[in-house]
This record gives sequence, C-alpha cells and structure tokens, in this order.
Amino acid sequence: MTGGAGYIGTHVYIELLRAGFRPAILDNFSNSDPAVLGALEEITGQPVDCTRIDLRDGPALSAVLAQGRFAGVIHLAALKSVPESLLHPSAYVDNNLGGLVSLVRAMEAVGPRALVFSSSATVYGTPERLPIPEDAARGFTNPYGFTKLAAEQILEMVATADPRWAIGTLRYFNPAGAHSSGLIGEAPVESATNLFPAIARAALCRGAPLQLFGSDYPTRDGTAERDFIHVEDLAAGHVLSLRRLLDDGRGHRVNLGTGQGHTVLEVIRAYAAASGRDIPYRIAPRRPGDVARCVADPALAERLLGFRATRGLEAMCHSAWNALIRAEMPRQARARAAARPGWPAPLQRSLI
Ligand SMILES: NC(=O)c1ccc[n+]([C@@H]2O[C@H](COP(=O)([O-])OP(=O)(O)OC[C@H]3O[C@@H](n4cnc5c(N)ncnc54)[C@H](O)[C@@H]3O)[C@@H](O)[C@H]2O)c1
Repeated sequence: MTGGAGYIGTHVYIELLRAGFRPAILDNFSNSDPAVLGALEEITGQPVDCTRIDLRDGPALSAVLAQGRFAGVIHLAALKSVPESLLHPSAYVDNNLGGLVSLVRAMEAVGPRALVFSSSATVYGTPERLPIPEDAARGFTNPYGFTKLAAEQILEMVATADPRWAIGTLRYFNPAGAHSSGLIGEAPVESATNLFPAIARAALCRGAPLQLFGSDYPTRDGTAERDFIHVEDLAAGHVLSLRRLLDDGRGHRVNLGTGQGHTVLEVIRAYAAASGRDIPYRIAPRRPGDVARCVADPALAERLLGFRATRGLEAMCHSAWNALIRAEMPRQARARAAARPGWPAPLQRSLI
C-alpha cells in the first residue's frame, strides 16, 4: 500500500490484515507520523512491514516491489489539500502525477498489475445530476482535482494499452470518523482543511471559530451538503475492490459513498452532540469552487463489489471525537508538565 501510514491508509491496512492479506506500507511520511506504526501494532498485535520511500524514486520503488512479490497494490499516496493545491499547483502535479507514473512504470517492470486507486468525488467537478452516478461527466475545479482526474485518465490509457492490468478506481466521497480503538484518526487537526478536523479544532476552542463557507446554497438549511462516509466503511471497500480485481482480473470504477447527504450545519450539530462541546462557528462567504450538493449514487459499488456503508453520521462523530480525545491526552500531560518548572515533558507523541 502506498500512503499506508496516512489517515485512510492506516484504516485500510487494518481491514486488509483482518481479511487475511499481508499488507506492506510504503510511505515517505510527508503527511504522517511514523508513530502511527506503533498504534497499528497495538491494534493488530502484529509487527508492521513498512518501507520509508518516496514513490517518485523509481529504482528504489521497483526494488521494493520486486522483493515483496505482491499480489496487488493499493495506491493512496498523494497530497490532498484543495487550498494548498491552489497555492502550489506544480507540487501537486509533481507528487500526485509524478508518484502515479513512477508507480505504474515500476509495476510494468516488475509487477503486479492489479491496482486499486484512491480517486475522489472531486473528479465530478460541478456535478450535473444528483445523486452522482459513475458515468456522470468529469471535470475539475482546482489543481488537486486536476491531478485526480488526470490520474484516472492515465490509468484508463494504461489499462487499454495492456489488458493484463486490472485497475479498481474508487471515488471516495467525504471520509470521516476514526477507528473504533481511538488509536488512529485524521491528522493533523491543526492544519487539515477538511470539515471534521476543522470542527474538532473549534470543539477544542483552538484558534478562530469554525468558518462556515456559504449559507445561501439551495439546500435544506442553506449550507453545503456532502456525502460523508465512515473511514472504516471506506476501508472495507478497498478489500472488496482488491478481491474483485484478483478474482476476475477486470477493472472497475465505483463511487464509495452512502447515498445520503448531510449539510455542514447538520454535521456541526451531530459533532456537538457526540462531543458534548459547543462548536463556535461564523458564517463566511462561499468559497470559489465549492458546489452546493455532492452526494453519491452508491448502487454500482453495491452491485459490482457488494459494498454498502453501514455506519452513520453519529458513529463518525463519536469515533472522531474519541480518537481526538485519546490523542489529546498526552498533549495535555505535556502542557501540565511544562507548566511545572523542572519537570521534563513526556516523550510520547500525539497521533493527531
Ligand atoms: N481524506 C479525504 O477526504 C480524501 C477524499 C478523497 C480522496 N482522498 C484520497 O485518498 C488518499 C489518501 O488520503 P488520506 O486522507 O489518507 O491522506 P493522508 O495525507 O493522510 O495520507 C497520504 C499518505 O501518503 C503519503 N505520501 C504522499 N506523497 C507521497 C509520496 N510521493 N511517496 C510516498 N508517500 C507519500 C503521506 O506521507 C501520507 O502518509 C489520497 O490519494 C487522497 O487524495 C482523500
């Protein structure tokens, strides 16, 4: 798994192990903390096979793939922040497309040819119909979205050129929540731009109140509506996708969502209920590029893979808060120790 130390990758790792696979993680830790490997070992009771590598290092990647004799690759590694991609588009193209091309070249050279790819609902650009089916028109509204769309197109050309490839393209809607153990979750709360970490920041009263972008959308309450999917459901979808590729050798392209939308205000209320905290927010103007509603048609994933999300918004909020609080404990212990002169700060690192 590339990017296996990240938010979604760590959850996929656990599901793979549970399903009987022997996953290996490749990651450069540009957006993750090696300490997460200890959490994975604690959850699974097994040592983690992890190689620190940048995917763009083609020769090193080929060597790792050749040595590992893998049945398939799950490619999650990418930069993922939309606002950051607007500031640094070339870094996004370099990392996300450079990493993908390097991976494809290495797999062409030494195998395997089964690949599950982390795509995103962002490839639908401004959706033309709702809920969004997989054959809807594609587009992009920011450089991050461009890299996901271009990656899908590159993989389509690769599969057309060589039928030995089996590629599962998974278009995630809005992953949220955390593992039931509370030991892993979405990181880091400070800089993440997704809604859940932003709400978490507000719940912890860290920084300015949550900015709620747009209250005049044509939705139930005027705030944007999204299809949130629990990260453990999402992780299970990867196992189903990989199994399908290995079983029949044919590719697929599916949405991973619930088919049910929640508005930003609904999420704020659900998170406040789960955490017992006030979530201070202030209304800000709409952000350019944001769409009013984005909800998956999940029928194809169910038909092709037998995938169906089972966890709801409440479970996402509870698990996210649980992971956050567990990660906060060492931080608060550090702060308390620092407040007492002469006491060394504990060495434990926060996971979030
Ligand atoms: N989280 C979301 O909301 C969301 C939504 C849709 C799609 N996705 C996609 O899912 C995938 C995983 O997302 P995530 O939320 O787990 O992100 P993440 O940042 O938590 O994890 C990505 C991991 O990839 C690693 N990585 C990045 N570039 C690398 C490189 N060149 N070489 C090796 N490792 C590299 C990072 O260190 C990190 O551990 C990404 O492709 C992302 O675009 C995420």
